[in-house]
Amino acid sequence: MTDVLIQARNLSRAYHNGREQICVLQGLSLELRAGESVAVIGPSGSGKSTLLNLLNGLLPPDSGELQLFGRTHSLLTDSDWAELRRTRIATLFQDGNLIPTLTVSRNIAFRAGLAGLQEHEGRALLEQLDIADTAHRYPDQLSGGQRQRAALACAFAMRPALILADEPTGSLDYATAQRVAPLFFDAIRERALGALIVTHNPELAQRCDRILELREGALRPWDSAVSS
Ligand SMILES: Nc1ncnc2c1ncn2[C@@H]1O[C@H](COP(=O)(O)OP(=O)(O)OP(=O)(O)O)[C@@H](O)[C@H]1O
Ligand SMILES: [Mg+2]
Repeated sequence: MTDVLIQARNLSRAYHNGREQICVLQGLSLELRAGESVAVIGPSGSGKSTLLNLLNGLLPPDSGELQLFGRTHSLLTDSDWAELRRTRIATLFQDGNLIPTLTVSRNIAFRAGLAGLQEHEGRALLEQLDIADTAHRYPDQLSGGQRQRAALACAFAMRPALILADEPTGSLDYATAQRVAPLFFDAIRERALGALIVTHNPELAQRCDRILELREGALRPWDSAVSS
């Protein structure tokens, strides 16, 4: 078993809108190991969500080499990807990823059941994230920040090897983000997860092992002196 979770070399990806071609990723390289957390920062529209969707198999790269868990992207079938997303790769999407027809507790039980987690462990997650009182509600009955924390609980309940998070604290007020961030990093450390975290929150980024900036289609080590 390799502990390299993501190995990307020279990835490119463009979108085509009619005759317009938008080159988003151009020559992007990245390596992420188990137990490592990497923050990805970059301006709106720079391609951060596109990158996460390449890494969870929702979008194919146009060119370049990509391996997840030592397996070559282009050789993975749709059912391989479905299995990876069910068991090993948890994605926290920018706009939330709860199943709308299930209550919060059923959402967690669904994820937890797939991972063999006990029901009381799911309840404990909700308590840690301070949303135990929303357990019986449906996602559209929650505030944006509550929805984000419920999605986080679902991701933890899945016991993944890799978390891809798109602005996981984007809808949280400062105090709540401060409370949630340590839970996130405790889970990463305790379970030796790999985490790629897209964030505009400098404190969350600073807690990561490395900060990379997505600029002109590629990732570069973030240099605060240049960027500030
Ligand atoms: N399905 C699509 N079709 C065409 N263009 C798209 C599509 N999705 C994204 N884009 C364009 O690709 C570029 C990168 O988008 P992306 O969503 O990856 O950016 P981002 O860095 O996540 O931005 P934000 O911080 O606002 O979430 C943007 O210019 C966007 O308009
Ligand atoms: Mg985005």
